[in-house]
Amino acid sequence: MKRGFLDKLRFPPKFIWGAATAAYQIEGAWNEDGKGESIWDRFSHTPDKIVNGDTGDVACDHYHRYPEDIALMRQIGLKAYRFSVSWTRILPAGFGRVNTAGLDFYDRFVDSLLAANIEPFVTLHHWDYPQALYEKGGWMNRDNLPYFADYAAVMVKRLGDRIQCWTTFNEPGVISEMGYGLGEHAPGIKDDWKKVRQITHNLMVAHGLAVQAIRAINPSLDVGIVLSQWNAEPASDDPADIAAAELAWDSQDTAFLHPIFRGHYHPSMIDALGDDLPEIKSGDMALISQKLDFLGMNCYSRNVFNAQGKVSPIQGSEYTDMGWEVCAPAFRRMLNCINNDYDLPPIYITENGAAFPDLVTADGKIHDERRLDYLRQHIIQMRLAMQDGVDIRGYFVWSLTDNFEWALGNTKRFGLIRVDYDTLKRTLKDSGEWYARVIAANQGERECI
Ligand code: GCO
Repeated sequence: MKRGFLDKLRFPPKFIWGAATAAYQIEGAWNEDGKGESIWDRFSHTPDKIVNGDTGDVACDHYHRYPEDIALMRQIGLKAYRFSVSWTRILPAGFGRVNTAGLDFYDRFVDSLLAANIEPFVTLHHWDYPQALYEKGGWMNRDNLPYFADYAAVMVKRLGDRIQCWTTFNEPGVISEMGYGLGEHAPGIKDDWKKVRQITHNLMVAHGLAVQAIRAINPSLDVGIVLSQWNAEPASDDPADIAAAELAWDSQDTAFLHPIFRGHYHPSMIDALGDDLPEIKSGDMALISQKLDFLGMNCYSRNVFNAQGKVSPIQGSEYTDMGWEVCAPAFRRMLNCINNDYDLPPIYITENGAAFPDLVTADGKIHDERRLDYLRQHIIQMRLAMQDGVDIRGYFVWSLTDNFEWALGNTKRFGLIRVDYDTLKRTLKDSGEWYARVIAANQGERECI
């Protein structure tokens, strides 16, 4: 392992090294053991919505193969695993009748994680919304919002004795914008932006209701939310570019941070929304801005602006297979930016990683140098952010395994572990082996990366 400068980047002994996934992207078993239909089942079964007509019907077949996946997590030495629960396994319609077989699955799974000494970090909603609830008006209908809190309560009653960290939503902004504005994600609606903004607001209200419900059952649990934040950066130090980047951040990227950590929308956002400003009922902001125990940050890249708007591609930059610029220093800058602007609880990096087209070589291995290098650079920048004073308690690679990348189907590979979608065989990539060494080197207070 490389020594010298990197040895100084020692991590605290209790730092949590993990990897993350989401239910629809890995589980498969889409209609087994009483599971109800989700909007992602419906969407992926609709022709022409997903690249190559891929679906999550089988995905990585994690539902049946989880013992093998946990064995691989152990091989990597993960301290924690972030996964999401499929709402329709628990409540097939999203409300009303509870499906015991669904609860039993997560019960067995969590027990197996704990037996392997891996801490479960659970996300209640990572986009696979119940189809039946959608047909009752979905997130647009405020009467439906308490159902999310009811679902949270069912989960906490069953697993609150074994899971400490509970996340309400993963990237709520993607739900409303990709699902209801751009229509590229389920349910595939291209609505007007006033409705999209209302859904964004309603999601935060649902988050607030769930936080209350979880704490009413067990106030000692840690509750948080996961947001996607990419730094907004100027293309040059021209004051016009700097102003453009600042305006982009204030008017768009504060959509969740401001309501949750300041209790109101950012004035620049209110200006930018104009007539699209959502209806805010009395009491909403207090619900939304309840104190959280942690903040989950998903970050992969940055957005660059000049006075004309967004600049892409950036000359000379490397891009991943998602078309996202690789710029690790922007990760550190983003973390400092939010840390300076808000009074934040401890942060977990809940997603960071890179898709590259992997090659299985004659030795049967996957020498994914570029992913490994991406992870190395980002872990270094994260450590520097910690040195700057940002309170980061853990890091989760996206993703443990290659998996179903939403509208892009099985075409993008983010895993530390390769999944052959014909045979479902798993193979640890070089990046996975390297990550195992990073984790092992941090068992005590020794050098790290
Ligand atoms: C997200 C989602 C993941 C994606 C990943 C790569 O953060 O967008 O949580 O489900 O697969 O980010 O796009």
